[in-house]
Amino acid sequence: MNPDIKEILSQLEQLKQNFLDEISNNLDARNTEDIKVKYLGRKGKLSSFFSLLGKVTPENKPLLGQELNRLKNFLQSEVDNLSKSVTKKSKKDDFFDISLPGVPAEIGTKHPLYQVLDEIKSIFTSLGFTTETGPELETDFYNFEALNIPKDHPSRDLQDTFYITDELVLRTHTSPVQIRTMKKMKPPIRMIAPGKCYRKDSIDATHFPVFHQVEGLCVDVGVTFADLKGIIWAFAKRLFGEDVKIRFRPSFFPFTEPSAEYDFSCVKCNGKGCNICKGTGWLEISGAGMVDPAVFKYVDYDSDKYTGYAFGMGVERIAMLKYQVADIRDFYENDLRFLKQF
Ligand code: PHE
Repeated sequence: MNPDIKEILSQLEQLKQNFLDEISNNLDARNTEDIKVKYLGRKGKLSSFFSLLGKVTPENKPLLGQELNRLKNFLQSEVDNLSKSVTKKSKKDDFFDISLPGVPAEIGTKHPLYQVLDEIKSIFTSLGFTTETGPELETDFYNFEALNIPKDHPSRDLQDTFYITDELVLRTHTSPVQIRTMKKMKPPIRMIAPGKCYRKDSIDATHFPVFHQVEGLCVDVGVTFADLKGIIWAFAKRLFGEDVKIRFRPSFFPFTEPSAEYDFSCVKCNGKGCNICKGTGWLEISGAGMVDPAVFKYVDYDSDKYTGYAFGMGVERIAMLKYQVADIRDFYENDLRFLKQF
């Protein structure tokens, strides 16, 4: 009696199913070879079906032949794919030595200038100051006009200021944030404004065309120069230690009256005189003064009622003193040998 073709085809279907189950559980290269032998080898599961070709009825022979070839090709290509992907995987795995120490990810550190800026901010925050910001691209009005800097003032010189248009400049200081803040809020005001400033300076060890300032402003009833000195002194002590001394020298700014420049006693030699303070014992920090009543006019503050003080601060300068950095350019060159020291 001829074997039943339907029965044979269903056995082939079962064989294909078993094969697929096995390869989906296959984990390593050796297993793949076993599967190949088990199904496609000379004594393998598929080979035994070929012997049935001679036993089925002549009309079923082509059908069975076709089915067997199709299945054989299918199994062959599946086994080939599998061994390819398994060898790829195992080659990669060969590189992985789980006993090796991990490769630490290089996480950067905060730039030294911003570390100092953070410290300045946290000192003033603890003294009750808020932090305000303003745009780096500033109008002539905020950068100059409202700060009582008339059109012919030397600081407007084309040599110093980056003009974008007649009306727009890269801010030359953070003082325009004083005006923006006073326009936005009514007294009492106690704020600092940290940020980038730009000047057309030629680059040398102490000048760079972009630099950072922190502006300070306090406006209220009865604010005096003594308050200004108190705040600067408190700040200096927090930043450089209890022994630091401060001094104010008369100066001029169009937006403060009276105006001063203030110095800290040298943090390196304690006022005795050294190379950092060029033998003077003092380090210049920036300018300060009482807000000029002319400025209050621009922001509609009653100068009979309110007084205020303002001060500036050069962040690069303070960072150079704090970390004893001799050249401002080091902050901008992004040399990791420099940056990694902080
Ligand atoms: N804006 C001044 C400068 O850049 C510093 C300053 C700020 C002076 C506030 C007085 C009051 O030099």
